[in-house]
Amino acid sequence: MLVHTIDEVREKIEEWKKQSLTVGLVPTMGALHDGHLSLIKKSVEKCDKTVVSVFVNPIQFCPGEDLDKYPRTLDADEKLCNDAGADIVFAPSPKEMYGEGHILSNDFLTYVIPPFFYTNKLCGKSRVGHFDGVCTVVNKLFNIVQPDFAFFGEKDRQQLIILKKMVKDLNIPVEIIPCPIVREESGLALSSRNKYLSDDDKIHALALSKILFNIKACYNKGITDVKALTETAYSYLNEHHSLEYLEFRDAQDLEEKKTADDNTIVFIALKIGDVRLIDNIALK
Ligand code: PAJ
Repeated sequence: MLVHTIDEVREKIEEWKKQSLTVGLVPTMGALHDGHLSLIKKSVEKCDKTVVSVFVNPIQFCPGEDLDKYPRTLDADEKLCNDAGADIVFAPSPKEMYGEGHILSNDFLTYVIPPFFYTNKLCGKSRVGHFDGVCTVVNKLFNIVQPDFAFFGEKDRQQLIILKKMVKDLNIPVEIIPCPIVREESGLALSSRNKYLSDDDKIHALALSKILFNIKACYNKGITDVKALTETAYSYLNEHHSLEYLEFRDAQDLEEKKTADDNTIVFIALKIGDVRLIDNIALK
């Protein structure tokens, strides 16, 4: 069932809560692929009812980013959600979420601001304010849907860590369920932004997963020095790549690691032309 308004969602949720049914929420920005579907299927399996939100959230895009050209494929998304067993597809307009004139500056909107220590690094460094926008919209979605469980992909690991922190710090009664990264057979992590890649770009994009898989293989052979592990990446990079970061950080609090261990996540972001891609791997 496709709904566009908060009132319609609330009505359904109220009905379900009266029947003591558990509710799972899968927040997305649409252009759904098998990565999103793995989250939806997990929710359908675990919860009595599943709500998928499809909302390209303007306040998490920085100036100059791809807000306008972000792929919007609601008809196809709705069908995929229905086929996967979702009960509601909630696709609000920006006006429905942020009000008349949708004034988006933080002079006019109450924001949820995650701690600077978590946002001043990795994607947060180049995307200033991005995680404020993510936490604000996810908090709103939690209040609208009141889910028992919410499903997030490890593909966006910094986002997942920040949202877990938000739920803990603000005592939000939602359990966050992390879901593993879904990859193409080639190793490329599925992403809505892969649509921007040409066939050649897709080959260059394999550098991300190759670098991460190789680092994990080296770690498994006993190399733990982060400098040495980082150096193994360079042979995969060429003039088609612009490396934004390759960093080793703690899985809970994103503290930097000098020596890799089982709690280490390796994070990578690189640009191929104008397209910015991210990936990560847990060394455990
Ligand atoms: P979006 O990029 O659409 O992703 C929605 C969810 O799908 C996120 O939890 C993301 O980590 C997960 N996901 C994407 N690709 C995946 C893959 N290859 N394998 C596993 N999971 C994958 O992330 C957002 O939207 C937004 O920031 C949002 C949380 C919806 C807030 O606006």
